[in-house]
Amino acid sequence: MKSRKGIILAGGAGTRLWPSTQVTSKQLLPVYDKPMIYYPVSTLMLAGIREILVITTPEDSDRFRALLGDGSRLGMTFTYTTQARPEGLAQALLLAEDFLDGAPSVLILGDNLFFGNGLSEQLQDVSTRASGATIFAYHVRDPERYGVVELGEDGRALSIEEKPAEPRSSLAIVGLYFYDDSAVARAKRLRPSPRGELEITDLNRSYLSDGSLAVEILGRGMAWLDTGTHTALLAASNFVAAVEDRQGLKIGALEETALRMGYIDEAALARIAKEMTGNTYGQYLLGLLEGSWTGRPSTKASSKPNAPA
Ligand code: TTP
Repeated sequence: MKSRKGIILAGGAGTRLWPSTQVTSKQLLPVYDKPMIYYPVSTLMLAGIREILVITTPEDSDRFRALLGDGSRLGMTFTYTTQARPEGLAQALLLAEDFLDGAPSVLILGDNLFFGNGLSEQLQDVSTRASGATIFAYHVRDPERYGVVELGEDGRALSIEEKPAEPRSSLAIVGLYFYDDSAVARAKRLRPSPRGELEITDLNRSYLSDGSLAVEILGRGMAWLDTGTHTALLAASNFVAAVEDRQGLKIGALEETALRMGYIDEAALARIAKEMTGNTYGQYLLGLLEGSWTGRPSTKASSKPNAPA
C-alpha cells in the first residue's frame, strides 16, 4: 500500500458565521488561542500522516499558505489547491486526484475538532487498513443535523442518511473519513444532490453498498466539536481554554505534535520557539524543552511506513 495522504477541506462559504467570515475563511478564525485549521492539521499528524493537501477558496489561499507554509519546519509536506465554489465535501476527492496519485487518503473537515485519550492510536490503527473506507460515529443529542449511521448487531452499517428528519440512530458521522485508493473513481461517478452538492454521504454509500464500509465508534470519552455557528465556535473555544488551563498542555499545537510524533527533534523545536518568545504560544513551546516535555514520540508513529525517506 502507498503511504496514506491527508486532505483538509477548508473552503466553504461559512455563511452561518457572517459577518465574521465575510472577508476571511472560517478556518482562519481562532478557536481560543490558535487558528481553527491547526486542530485538523494536528489530528492528521496524530494519525501518522506526513503529506497534506489543503483545499481552500481561491480568495483565502494565500493566507493559508502564509500561515502554514510548505510544512517542512514541522517535518511535513503541505500543498494547496482551491475549490472555486462550495460544491460539496466529496468534491475534495476530485480536487485531490493528482495529489493522491493513487494513494489511499484521509479527509478531514477544516472546522472539526477532535480531542481524547487514545485518539492517535485509534487513527493510526485505522490508517493501516488497505482496502475499503472507515468512517467514525459519535453519539449526539441532535443527530438530525448530521449524516447519521444506523448500525446492526454486528456493528456494521445498515444505512447512512444525510440530515434525516427522523434519524434511525443517535450516531452522527463525524468529519473524518479514511478511504482506499478507489475513492477518486467512486467520486467521479457521483452526481450532485438536489442541493447541488457532491455529497460525502453518497460516496460513503458507495462503499456501504459493496460491503466495504467500516464504522468506528468514537466513544463518549472523546470530544468531537464542530465550529460552524457562533455558539459552537464559542463552546469549542471554551472547551480548549478549560482543558489547556487545567493541564497546562495545549490542544492542537502543531510544533508540539511534530515533536511528540518524532517528525522533528528538540533542536528544531527550539529554533521555532525562539522566533516566538514574545508570546505565550512560543513560551509554551520553550517550556516543553525546559522540562515539562515528559512524553516520548510514539515508537509506532516513528516507524510508520510513510515516514519521509
Ligand atoms: P459546512 O459547515 O457544511 O459549510 P460552510 O463552512 O460553507 O458553512 P455554512 O454552512 O455556514 O455556509 O462545511 C463543513 C466544512 O467543509 C467546512 O470546514 C467548510 C468545508 N467545505 C468546503 O471546503 N467545501 C464545500 O464545498 C463545503 C460544502 C464545505
